[in-house]
Amino acid sequence: MNVVIIGARGGIGSALTQVYANDPSCRLFALARHRAPPSRTNVTGVALDFEDEASLARAAEICAGDGDIDLVINAVGMLHGDRVRPEKSLRDISADALAAYLFANCTCAALALKHFAPMLGRSRRAVFASLSARLGSISDNRRGGWYGYRASKAAHNMIIRTASIELARTHKQACVIGIHPGTVDTRLTGPYSKNVPPSQLFTAQDAAIRIRELLQRVGPGDSGRVLDYDGRQVPA
Ligand SMILES: NC(=O)c1ccc[n+]([C@@H]2O[C@H](COP(=O)([O-])OP(=O)(O)OC[C@H]3O[C@@H](n4cnc5c(N)ncnc54)[C@H](OP(=O)(O)O)[C@@H]3O)[C@@H](O)[C@H]2O)c1
Repeated sequence: MNVVIIGARGGIGSALTQVYANDPSCRLFALARHRAPPSRTNVTGVALDFEDEASLARAAEICAGDGDIDLVINAVGMLHGDRVRPEKSLRDISADALAAYLFANCTCAALALKHFAPMLGRSRRAVFASLSARLGSISDNRRGGWYGYRASKAAHNMIIRTASIELARTHKQACVIGIHPGTVDTRLTGPYSKNVPPSQLFTAQDAAIRIRELLQRVGPGDSGRVLDYDGRQVPA
């Protein structure tokens, strides 16, 4: 089974890399920006840069070199960063921060779909999964705030839905889904997880194991949906 993990240096991405690398039936490609993750027996590290689309095309060619891809997981995303903090109020909104949220949480997934979805196998079940967030649900938004993160994940989910419709025409056994991983203790949640009860804060390893279990169960009938780590639908 050929597996591609994009964002392999992130909290959940590196835990997923570990979980799939431990499966000897997997041929794993671990992709990260700036520097290629270390290669090992069944793991090939590949560098890519979402601001240089040619690097995505090259990375996709490397990953498809050993045959059709069975599974792609995009674990890229951003909640806070250089000069970007989740907005508490309308007065905190800035065009630059909105653009940065959209790029990390939606554009990267769209570009990953553009370059990697065509490499998915057509003759057997294949999955493209991209990490979303429950906060991207419009109907479930009761608390407000975090404009850029919420909006960029909602846009991400529309990209997933739209790509699922297109891909169904050529890849009858493919499934394109968004996944809410739960609240996970990573760099992304670090400053914002103090009030989360320990029982509701997963380790990255727990999250990766649950995501893997979910990905073993999904099929073409789930394509276009956003599911949480337990397989429950996240409302649009
Ligand atoms: N942790 C949670 O509780 C939680 C909850 C709901 C959804 N999610 C989603 O799960 C995904 C993974 O989150 P995480 O907790 O693992 O976060 P993380 O540890 O901060 O990892 C984020 C990953 O995204 C990459 N990234 C960020 N901005 C990028 C950009 N502009 N271009 C390319 N790569 C970029 C990072 O690359 P570098 O390593 O190079 O910085 C890193 O690999 C995200 O989509 C997040 O929204 C997480």
